[in-house]
Amino acid sequence: TEPLTPPRHIVLVGFMGTGKSTVGRLLAQRGGYTAVDVDAEIVKREGYTIPELFAQFGEDYFRAAETEALRAILGQAASLVVATGGGAVLRPENRALMTDGGLVVALTASAEQIIARVSQDTGRPLLQGNLEERVYKLMSERSGAYDFAPVRIDTTGLSAEEVAEAIWDAWL
Ligand code: S3P
Repeated sequence: TEPLTPPRHIVLVGFMGTGKSTVGRLLAQRGGYTAVDVDAEIVKREGYTIPELFAQFGEDYFRAAETEALRAILGQAASLVVATGGGAVLRPENRALMTDGGLVVALTASAEQIIARVSQDTGRPLLQGNLEERVYKLMSERSGAYDFAPVRIDTTGLSAEEVAEAIWDAWL
């Protein structure tokens, strides 16, 4: 059979704490891609941290900045591994940008695993308050949100290295 046309970019989507940024870096190293983190790019472009953007300008402002950053990143000619924020899949416009930009890979994990991975973290405005409640509520609100990705990998119980290896072996 003919080899598949190589995708331009690899776009990692998934709920907070599924390991997108870490896996993205490992995958980029492995495959000679450049790793780009959309949240980090937003912070660079806007000059505010993610919590500051939410607190001072609101989520709608953040989402608009996210779409702009995604568009700029995915428009680059070099092949990138792009780690997106957990809510980047919510706008249909963003999903179209990602799908047109390359191979979209969704990382999933159990709620328990996600809670364990993000429990030490203070940089996620949407998880402030009762962490378990927030994760369960957001996960149910977003159920199905990552299903547009043609590739899905359950990362529960796997290290970031194992996830990167699985993606590499199966898809690259
Ligand atoms: C968000 C996820 C975060 C960040 C922001 C909002 C979300 O990214 O974009 O706090 O709506 O799920 P991570 O998935 O990298 O934590």
